[in-house]
Parts: sequence; C-alpha cells; structure tokens
Amino acid sequence: MGIGELESVLARARSLCVLTGAGVSAESGIPTFRGADGLWRQFRAEDLATPEAFARNPLLVWEWYAWRREILHGAQPNLAHCALAELEASRAGSASAFTLITQNVDGLHERAGSRKVIRLHGSIWELRCTACGAERQDYSVPLNPFPPRCTCAQQRSLEGVAEKTLMRPGVVWFGERLPEQAWRDAAAAAAAADVMLVVGTSALVHPAASLPLLAKQRGAFLVEVNPEPTPLSGMADLVLTGKAGEVLDRAVSKRPVL
Ligand code: OAD
Repeated sequence: MGIGELESVLARARSLCVLTGAGVSAESGIPTFRGADGLWRQFRAEDLATPEAFARNPLLVWEWYAWRREILHGAQPNLAHCALAELEASRAGSASAFTLITQNVDGLHERAGSRKVIRLHGSIWELRCTACGAERQDYSVPLNPFPPRCTCAQQRSLEGVAEKTLMRPGVVWFGERLPEQAWRDAAAAAAAADVMLVVGTSALVHPAASLPLLAKQRGAFLVEVNPEPTPLSGMADLVLTGKAGEVLDRAVSKRPVL
C-alpha cells in the first residue's frame, strides 16, 4: 500500500472530493497553526482569530494578519498545490466529478491553477466591514498599519449610528458561521464522493473536519496525506505518512481521465 495505491484510487474515482488544510502550504514556507512554528509572539490562532479578540484589540489582530500576509507575499505554490491543480485539469471534460475544498485563506491553490476552489474559511486577501458587511479585495503588502474604516462610516456618523465601522480580514473566525453557499457545496460534494482525499489538516476544527466523516459514512474511500497522525487516521482506508508535496507529486497521474 502506498503511492501506487493512491494513484490507482485517484484514477478510478468517479467523484473525487479533496479537503486541504494548512499542511498543504507548509512546503511553501507558510507556518501551520498547530505546528512547532504555529505561535506568533506568544499567541495561538485561537487567541487571535475571534471576533472578540478583534473587538478587544483590533491592532493586535491586524498586525498578526499583516505578518501572515508578508510571509505569503514571498511564497509560491508548491508541488502539492500544483498536483491538485493538475488533477482538476485532467478530469475536466470527463464524466468524473472533482471538488477541491480548502480551509486555507492564502490563495495558493488558485495561484497554482486550481479553477474552482471552495474556500470554507474565506480569504486573507479580502477585507470586510464589521458594520455593514461590505467586502473588497486588498492585496497590499505591507498592509496599512491600521485597519481602515469602511466607506459606510460617513453615512453612519451622519445618521448618528455609533457602530464600529472598521474593516477586518475577510476570513472566518472561531465562533463564526461558515459562508453558507460554500458550506452547502462542500457538504454536497463530500456526501457524493466515492473518494475523499484529506491533505494537511489536523482535522480538529469543525465543521470542516466533519466533511471526511460525512464522506466516510456515505461509503467513500477515505485517504489521508499527512506526516503526523490525526483523529481521522484510524478510520482512513489509506494513510500516506509524508509531506503533501512529495506524496501528491508522485501520485498524480499526468494522463487525462477518459
Ligand atoms: P493545523 O495547523 O491545525 O494542522 C496542520 C496539519 O498539517 C497537521 O496535521 C500537520 O501534521 C500537517 N502538516 C504539516 N506539514 C505538512 C506537510 N508538508 N504536508 C502535509 N501535511 C503537513 O491546520 P488546519 O488543520 O488547517 O482556522 O487548521 C484548521 C483551521 O484552524 C484553520 O483553517 C484555521 C485554524 O485555526 C481559522 O483560523 C478559523
């Protein structure tokens, strides 16, 4: 069992669903959240990635995202991102379905050429108004040192509404709901999958971590690629213990699916 089996499982899959986490970007030099390099200063993601943390100390949270953006700015998609983009391309126009779901906010799947990505946790390259919810793209690096105000601020102060109008990162924080359509599409793809490939996630953060369980319950063949065991490992049909880039690059056939 190993790469060869993964290769043939992928080639046979009629409805392939892939879920990725921070580990898929690790070989691009992006720190994972729960790895040895996961702390920023003394803070864990759970201390900063919450609406309460932003309300309490917007500058601190903003600074953390500015730091993550700087790392991303110099990063390139790695072999794992490229292999997944190739997998999608090789299945385009065939009868086989392919869905890529990511918890990552870094945009590296898209930069590698993945065309359709379900982003469960939003994008670090978007900003959203904490008052009116207006969104806009923002690729600036370095990020403005202070969170800007939304254009709705002027109108709100004219109306005497004292609501906060700071722009925040367009990502999903702990305690927040996932984007509805993205979640619906992800759950439908997981439920319909005959093969579910889970790459580089600790599978600790729900509801994303429930997708492989859903797929498995519906009879999918569950594959995990991760250098470390996770709560999914015991129920996976195939576990490839290794780095995403190394494993996927070897396993992804460059031949189109007929
Ligand atoms: P984690 O940091 O929890 O887990 C990263 C996983 O990647 C671990 O299981 C590692 O063993 C694995 N890993 C490390 N290097 C790898 C490599 N080269 N190839 C493959 N796997 C590797 O990250 P996530 O599971 O993505 O949410 O975390 C889920 C969510 O929690 C994130 O989206 C984020 C975070 O806090 C929010 O911010 C809301």
